[in-house]
Amino acid sequence: MKRSLAVLLGSILALAMILTGCGKSDTAASEGSDSSDGGKLEIFSWWTAGGEADGLNALIDVFNKKQPDIEVKNEAVAGGAGSNAKAVLATRMQGGNPPSTFQVHGGAELMAYVDAGKMEPLNDLFKKNGWDGKFPEDLIDMVSKDGKIYGIPVDIHRGNVLWYNKKVFDDNNLQPPKTFDEFFDVADKLKAKGITPLAIGDKEVWGSTMVFENILLAELGPDKYKQLWTGEVTFDDPAVKKSAEIFKKMIGYINDDHSSLAWQDASQLVADGKAAMNIMGDWAKGYFTSKNLKYNEDFGAVPTPESDGSFMVVADTFGKPKGVKNPDQVDKFLTVLGSVDGQDAFNPKKGSIPANVDGDTSKYDDYSKQAMDDFKTDSLTPSLAHGSAAPQGFMTKVDEAVNVFVTQKNVDNFIQSLTQASSLLK
Ligand code: GAL
Repeated sequence: MKRSLAVLLGSILALAMILTGCGKSDTAASEGSDSSDGGKLEIFSWWTAGGEADGLNALIDVFNKKQPDIEVKNEAVAGGAGSNAKAVLATRMQGGNPPSTFQVHGGAELMAYVDAGKMEPLNDLFKKNGWDGKFPEDLIDMVSKDGKIYGIPVDIHRGNVLWYNKKVFDDNNLQPPKTFDEFFDVADKLKAKGITPLAIGDKEVWGSTMVFENILLAELGPDKYKQLWTGEVTFDDPAVKKSAEIFKKMIGYINDDHSSLAWQDASQLVADGKAAMNIMGDWAKGYFTSKNLKYNEDFGAVPTPESDGSFMVVADTFGKPKGVKNPDQVDKFLTVLGSVDGQDAFNPKKGSIPANVDGDTSKYDDYSKQAMDDFKTDSLTPSLAHGSAAPQGFMTKVDEAVNVFVTQKNVDNFIQSLTQASSLLK
């Protein structure tokens, strides 16, 4: 079993303990908590790669200028998409030792902690900052339960993006593919030239799960894609089977070393022209620009094939755990995180667009300007690979199934595993 799967299983166990109340009670948590670490504000995330770490540092810089007396402790745990951090967080939450504030995706991932009674509502902070109407309603829905808001959105990432090396495409007279037929046509031409068509880094399985969820979105369309997570559409649907067939064909065009690479390593293959394309959320743009590559000169981006008009939302938010010793400091940090200044320092480096609607467009490149327009008009869909669409238990089973599929390429077995896993959908 891959390490990330083992870690995720650990995190499920920890989460299950929280949900069944086997961990310390909230009261015990608040009494026993040492979350302030002697007065330091612990910011917990998994932002350690190029782009994402730069964004976080820029946000902390803004905070430090506004609150010079509060000492910040950057508690980032390496591993894309929280492949390690989520397990560490679950253990800390379960042990009554929450960080002061932590990165969490809106939707199912945040709601697991809300349902377990581990999070403070943030409505008062919202009011105090005049944030009513300042964040898109769809995002507020993702962080709310029964009218209470539990997370402040810091960014909006798009998850359905195909990145390509401009020079490789220009040198070979290729156009970025809009359909799967075009994708395989381009891929055949690249392969004939000895260039890896598609870079994947699935050392942490989500790198492949993301590719599959993008194909699902394309084949099912946004409405049916969303119905997969509510059980209204089942995994034996012909469109899911077709998605698996397309995914299987794609795997024939990826780099041999995919299972030893992380997402940023796969992006680096594209940056170096060793591979032509990469399917990844737009934190990859943050990575490319951190390496001084320029959008539309060195690399280009289009929606993943047949997903134009849909926007796979990956929104990072930060919440306030119950029982922290420094709630006022947390409020001050969340205030900066939700502010225009904070978001406009963070997002241009991160590759994402600001969640705060007052973000200053002039601070963003053409890619992000387009993403801002698309977010307003496209159908918005939650990402499975990033924890918004479905509970962690189901996600882990899907990751396991994807992991097996990438090596065995057995469509029927894959569909069977997904169908079995679907009993874990609420
Ligand atoms: C996502 C997260 C992004 C980015 C990415 C890679 O889950 O939402 O902000 O950090 O993982 O680590």
